[in-house]
Amino acid sequence: MLIAPSILSADFANLQRDLDRIANADWAHVDVMDYHFVPNLTLGLPVVESLLKVSPIPLDCHLMIDDPDRWAPSYAEAGAQSVTFHIEASKEPRKLAADLRAAGARAAMALKPATPFAPYEELLDSLDMVLVMTVEPGFGGQTFMADQLPKVQQVREAVQRRGGEVWVQVDGGVSATTIEQCAEAGADVFVAGSAVYGAEDAAAAVDELRELAKG
Ligand code: DX5
Ligand code: ZN
Repeated sequence: MLIAPSILSADFANLQRDLDRIANADWAHVDVMDYHFVPNLTLGLPVVESLLKVSPIPLDCHLMIDDPDRWAPSYAEAGAQSVTFHIEASKEPRKLAADLRAAGARAAMALKPATPFAPYEELLDSLDMVLVMTVEPGFGGQTFMADQLPKVQQVREAVQRRGGEVWVQVDGGVSATTIEQCAEAGADVFVAGSAVYGAEDAAAAVDELRELAKG
């Protein structure tokens, strides 16, 4: 079970300080956005390379970008522990996942709320994690979409059926009030942006989320 605070809600002028504030978390979740796949722009490879040098914990890069087949492997080569591409944007997801693994990262596939899981279940054997988005990607601080929980359950059941070691991640609106439902549905990796960085004590918020997720 992993807690991954999203630095999208951190202070972009103080990213090193804000990474240190969540040193008790498992991963720092880094939202890369390109103004094309989503209507927002955040940061890219040069910033991720700098963050990798100072982060006390591994980075989980969530790429909300067009053409991940071309751009995602460089995040793995740079040293991100996990790299997530959106299935809606990838032309050759099986090859991309293999490229990510070959570069030393865990390979993950993300699904937007309107994207069903069933057509992509066959990709599970080439993946280390599936990210079920519980908001429309692009912005922090949105309302949790409980209607995505059946999809979380569906992914968990498929993983169990196939017997692989694939983690199930939720991202968007995850907080002290919603994390238990996510865990019950079968998620084991939890991204939380505003719920962590909006708290006065970010590390305490991480600990609280971890306790709640354990059930
Ligand atoms: C949204 C991002 C999320 C975002 C979550 O596109 O992928 O990682 O930071 O923020 P909260 O936890 O505030 O919904
Ligand atoms: Zn994210």
